[in-house]
Amino acid sequence: MDGRPPFVVLDGVDGCGKSTQAARLVEALRGRGLEVEHLREPGGTPEGEALRALILGRDSELSAGVEALLFCAARRQLLERRVAPALERGAAVVCERFHPSTFAYQAAAGGLPEGPLLDLLHTWAGSPAPDRVLLLELPVPEAAARRGAATDRIEDRGLEFQEAVRRGLERYAELAPELAQRVDAAGSEDEVAGRVWAAVEDLLG
Ligand SMILES: Nc1ncnc2c1ncn2[C@@H]1O[C@H](COP(=O)(O)OP(=O)(O)O)[C@@H](O)[C@H]1O
Ligand SMILES: [Mg+2]
Repeated sequence: MDGRPPFVVLDGVDGCGKSTQAARLVEALRGRGLEVEHLREPGGTPEGEALRALILGRDSELSAGVEALLFCAARRQLLERRVAPALERGAAVVCERFHPSTFAYQAAAGGLPEGPLLDLLHTWAGSPAPDRVLLLELPVPEAAARRGAATDRIEDRGLEFQEAVRRGLERYAELAPELAQRVDAAGSEDEVAGRVWAAVEDLLG
C-alpha cells in the first residue's frame, strides 16, 4: 500500500450490513483525520448510475454474461473516475461491493466459469486494486430478515439464489486469501463495527 490511505471493499449478501458498516468505517476513518471517498457499486459515477439502473431495473432481461460485462464496465468507470483520483490526492476509499459480488452472483450463482470471469475482472477492472476486501458473513435467512422485501431485479431471485451467492463469496475468499478477509457479521452493529475496524487497522500504519 506504500504509505497511502487504504482502499477497502465491503462485500456480502444482501442485507448483511454492508451499507451500515461502510458508514461506520467511513466515520471511524474520518475520525482519524483522513479524507474518505465512500462509494457503492454499481454506480458512483453518472455513467455507472445509468448502468446500475439498466442492470437492476425490473424491465431488463440480461444473461449472466451481459450482467458480468456491464458490472465490469461500471467498475472500471468507478476506478478511473473516482477511486484513482481519490487515492492520488491522499484520500482513503471505502467501496460497497466489488469483484466478490460479480464472482458470486454471475459465476457461482449465475453459472459463468470462475477462471475466465476472474480474468475479466482483473484484466479490465484490476487497477487500482483494493488493499483489503472484507466479506461480511451472515446466514442468508438472517440477512433477509434484516433486509426486508426485495427492491430490485437481482434481489427478486429469492433465498436459494442468495444461498448460492453466499457460497460463492466463501469460494472467493478461498481463491483470494491474500486479499479477502472474512468477518462475522452477526451481532450488534457495534460488535460488527469492532470486527471491521480490527480487520483494517493494520493498513493505517
Ligand atoms: N448488526 C446489525 N444488527 C441488526 N440489524 C442490522 C445490523 N446491521 C445492519 N442492520 C440493519 O439491517 C438492514 C440491512 O443493512 P444494510 O447495511 O442496508 O445491509 P446491506 O447494505 O448489506 O444490504 C438495515 O435495516 C440495517 O439497519
Ligand atoms: Mg446496502
